[in-house]
Amino acid sequence: MKSSTSFTLLALTSVVTGFPAYGTRMPLLRDDLPAGTPEFSSRDSDPAVGVFQAPNSTDVRSPCPGLNALANHGYLPRDGTNIHITDIVSQMDSNLGIASDFGLIQVAGATVLGAMSIIDGLGLGLKSFESLTESHNTIEHDASLTRDDTALGSNTDKNQTLIDQLFSYSKDNLTLTPTDIAEARQARIKDSFTRNPNVTLHKLQTDACWREAGLLTMVLGDQNGNIRLDWAREFLVDEKLPTDLGWSAPSPAHGIIDIEAITQTYTDLGQSLNAADGNFPLEF
Ligand code: HEM
Repeated sequence: MKSSTSFTLLALTSVVTGFPAYGTRMPLLRDDLPAGTPEFSSRDSDPAVGVFQAPNSTDVRSPCPGLNALANHGYLPRDGTNIHITDIVSQMDSNLGIASDFGLIQVAGATVLGAMSIIDGLGLGLKSFESLTESHNTIEHDASLTRDDTALGSNTDKNQTLIDQLFSYSKDNLTLTPTDIAEARQARIKDSFTRNPNVTLHKLQTDACWREAGLLTMVLGDQNGNIRLDWAREFLVDEKLPTDLGWSAPSPAHGIIDIEAITQTYTDLGQSLNAADGNFPLEF
């Protein structure tokens, strides 16, 4: 009895001494970090923030063209590791024109779904873009426009055949309209259900498909949602921001209301295209 009490006390003591001192807490946000902690770009000592450089063979990239483009320009760490959430949110805002109200919800969602973790000395973030690759059927999903389904190939490396297929939906060979994108999306859904016996498109994944189409339209589209094909090519093939072709990040940045409105437009288009296609088992 005595020895078991001592053991319990010992265990409790070690738990208690393992706690940070009262008044300190895990650094979750940049403001929680000690004064003087540098921004990632100086931590990364990148002399060319903003300049496009294709990733080298050791740089990690994600299944997301938006985050990859930010890394390829040095707005996020070029090696694709140790990416703080506030850098993601602020760089999405300044360099993709996606405002921080949406960005914060996006990173909160990625945290709840397990992609974010505490990085030593840095706080909450992506230890590596790899955690997005590994998030199959939580964040990453099948039927992507530009990547293979997980069961059929790489869910992270771009697939040029799929990208060409997407561009082939442009009716004027100059722009991708929201209808073109919705048709291409539905074609990929059909393709996945035809070729991949493991395809899963429950509500979480279906919503993500249409929200990503919405993000692409928000970042690259004009006021009617039409995307120049040459801009889409640079963004999706090279994962480069097409500033050399005249694009600039939307300003003011698009917030959650705009993004949810375009996502709803895509969801409605998707629902009717899927009905016309014989109702593949998606959850809208
Ligand atoms: C916290 C921010 C973000 C996270 C964690 C994130 C994560 C992801 C992930 C995991 C995918 C893969 C889904 C799939 O399997 O296809 C994806 C796809 C995508 N993301 Fe992001 N993303 C973020 C922000 C953005 C932004 C700001 C854009 C703006 C353009 C964007 C555009 C896209 C697009 C277009 C796709 C679909 C690619 C395809 O279907 O091939 N994302 N994102």
